[in-house]
Amino acid sequence: MIDAPENRAESLERLKTFLRIPSISTLPENKPDIRLAAEFVLGELKSAGLSTRLIVDSEGGGNPLVYGEWLGAAGKPTVLCYGHYDVQPPDPLDEWKSPPFEPDVRGDDIFARGSSDDKGQTYILIRAVAGLLKTHGRLPVNVRFLVEGEEETGGEHIERYVATRPPELACDAAIICDTEMFAPGLPTICVGLRGIVYGELHVEGANHDLHSGVYGGAAPNPIQAIAEILTALKDRDGRIRIPGFHARIVPPGDEERQAWTRLPFNEDEYTRAEMGARELTGEPDIPLFERLWARPTLEVHGIRGGFAGEGAKTVIPARAVAKLSARLVADQDPGEAFEQLQRAVAAACPRGVTAEFRLIHGAAPSLVDPRNRFIRAAAEAMTGVFGRETVYIRSGGSIPIVGLFDRHLGIPSVMMGFGLPDDNLHAPNEKLHLPNFFRGIVAVARYLELLGE
Ligand code: BES
Ligand code: MN
Repeated sequence: MIDAPENRAESLERLKTFLRIPSISTLPENKPDIRLAAEFVLGELKSAGLSTRLIVDSEGGGNPLVYGEWLGAAGKPTVLCYGHYDVQPPDPLDEWKSPPFEPDVRGDDIFARGSSDDKGQTYILIRAVAGLLKTHGRLPVNVRFLVEGEEETGGEHIERYVATRPPELACDAAIICDTEMFAPGLPTICVGLRGIVYGELHVEGANHDLHSGVYGGAAPNPIQAIAEILTALKDRDGRIRIPGFHARIVPPGDEERQAWTRLPFNEDEYTRAEMGARELTGEPDIPLFERLWARPTLEVHGIRGGFAGEGAKTVIPARAVAKLSARLVADQDPGEAFEQLQRAVAAACPRGVTAEFRLIHGAAPSLVDPRNRFIRAAAEAMTGVFGRETVYIRSGGSIPIVGLFDRHLGIPSVMMGFGLPDDNLHAPNEKLHLPNFFRGIVAVARYLELLGE
């Protein structure tokens, strides 16, 4: 019934409305859109029949948290549904085939920023609950919703909120739709995520820009210094050279490693079609899925400084900044990893410049034990709806709330993802496969029903 054509049509129309709101959390000029997106989620939950409110950090700032609850299933478990309504910036804009905030259905896919990450998937949770309430007038379990607007920028305010262990978050497990299926049609539960330390490396040389002919050979160059620091921190084989960085890493067990080798995978297609790359890089002696899911990374995201416009300018810049992040795996600690990075930067800093690594945000890695009843019920629901055995994978991405739910609420997170590997998350032409959207709604509803039995 949830899957009735009129419900599908309405789900799709409402999703488009949600996707039209450019709720980009990192850009100050989109603050009003953040508000609109929060109000959209609030309105959807309210019209589904939940009690709702917006939670705004009392110390000011922070994007609203949307809270909703339906607690009429006495004696049944309580499930906390988490999602995020904020999105990444859409640029480079000219690479989009249709405008990022004008959702466009082409074939079986809907294209828009946030379609997969995470408005479309958050909306799966909302429509599942709304559909159950509409059909039966009640839910098989108790349900709470927590939908945030800062996930893509590190989730600073939700961290403070969850750390206070508020009574309205009392629950038995969380469900999150913000991950990917391993392959089309293959139901997938994600049981591990990497953490992250994101920061800026500030390097200063002379106190003003210098003529590169007149001073070259004597002047320190901050961009060269950044290059030297980066190559000292990670070698040509992709091995991180930060003292102590690997000390806490727990390698995956044999059973999990074995399961990864059975996943349907074509490395050439992954490299050429999905990534559009020439070849894979990284630690040569470590299998691919372990490199992606169970090893830390160090990546540079951008370098600012000097002259980067058209044409030529002969200058030695006075300063430069590099944006860096390290992905972390269990049991690395973001605070400790940040300090290790700071020390490694100081040790690698060449003569004539100062270098300082400043934190922007951090999140802990997470691992969920797949043997609990919530994950088992989710796998059963997914297997039933997709008609194939559910696989368990990890993911290299980060969802900070998973570690926080574990640490502060002591609850497992069930990550039922309906994205696909070619959804173009954070990239131009992000899309969501509509059959996954509709099946996702049915699978989440089925999951809640199984938990209520
Ligand atoms: N949904 C993604 C993370 C993800 C992507 C998990 C694919 C599994 C598969 C999430 O919204 C995201 O992108 N998170 C950021 C978090 C960071 C800014 C703290 C990330 O991983 O870069
Ligand atoms: Mn996401």
